[in-house]
Amino acid sequence: MKKILSPSILAADFTRLGQEAADVDEAGAEYLHIDVMDGMFVPSISFGMPVIKSLRPVTGRVFDVHLMIEDPQRYIDDFAACGADLITVHAEACRHLDRVLNMIREKGLRCGVALNPATPLCMLDHVLTKTDMILLMTVNPGFGGQKYIPEMTEKIRSLRTMLNERGLDMDIEVDGGVSASNVAAVLEAGANVIVAGSAVFAPGKTKENARHLMEVMNAYE
Ligand code: DX5
Ligand code: ZN
Repeated sequence: MKKILSPSILAADFTRLGQEAADVDEAGAEYLHIDVMDGMFVPSISFGMPVIKSLRPVTGRVFDVHLMIEDPQRYIDDFAACGADLITVHAEACRHLDRVLNMIREKGLRCGVALNPATPLCMLDHVLTKTDMILLMTVNPGFGGQKYIPEMTEKIRSLRTMLNERGLDMDIEVDGGVSASNVAAVLEAGANVIVAGSAVFAPGKTKENARHLMEVMNAYE
């Protein structure tokens, strides 16, 4: 499967966000991971529509919008309007997950379902055919720079097995605590879309870090 790096701008220098986004684009990262937090579903608050809209002209890369917000169906139209290409919602945050996924696809966008570390894979059973990507959280969502939860490697493997058994060739994105030192294990388990925040964004080193991480990813067969 195609391996894709999705740098999380949560770890970027917000005083120069446009340049940071341009740098990871230039380094070759195909997605830009955009973490939206509401202070309810997760403890922290990050940013919302105006920031995404202002970044849209900077890069043509896929805007991979990860909504860590309660009841995201309230905002699907807004995130579509500000330039999202792929919208991922948390199964735990949707009272009507099936409906939300339909709403995203009706906007002509791709949709993803995210699961927190403690949420079982069976939550996905009845929505897999209408989902483009599964995001497995490998930290508890809410903050960048946390440590990868080792138990998640087996969860990734189980999900890939489950998808294979159903004949579904679907992207698995992993998010949280991934760096050049553990990305091979994550790929080996069956993930193919890699989110990385603190492992990519660093003053003066963003481009170099993104390139290095992609080299490590591409070296893994
Ligand atoms: C965590 C966010 C992540 C985070 C990843 O709630 O969803 O996308 O920015 O950051 P790192 O790679 O630093 O763990
Ligand atoms: Zn994220």
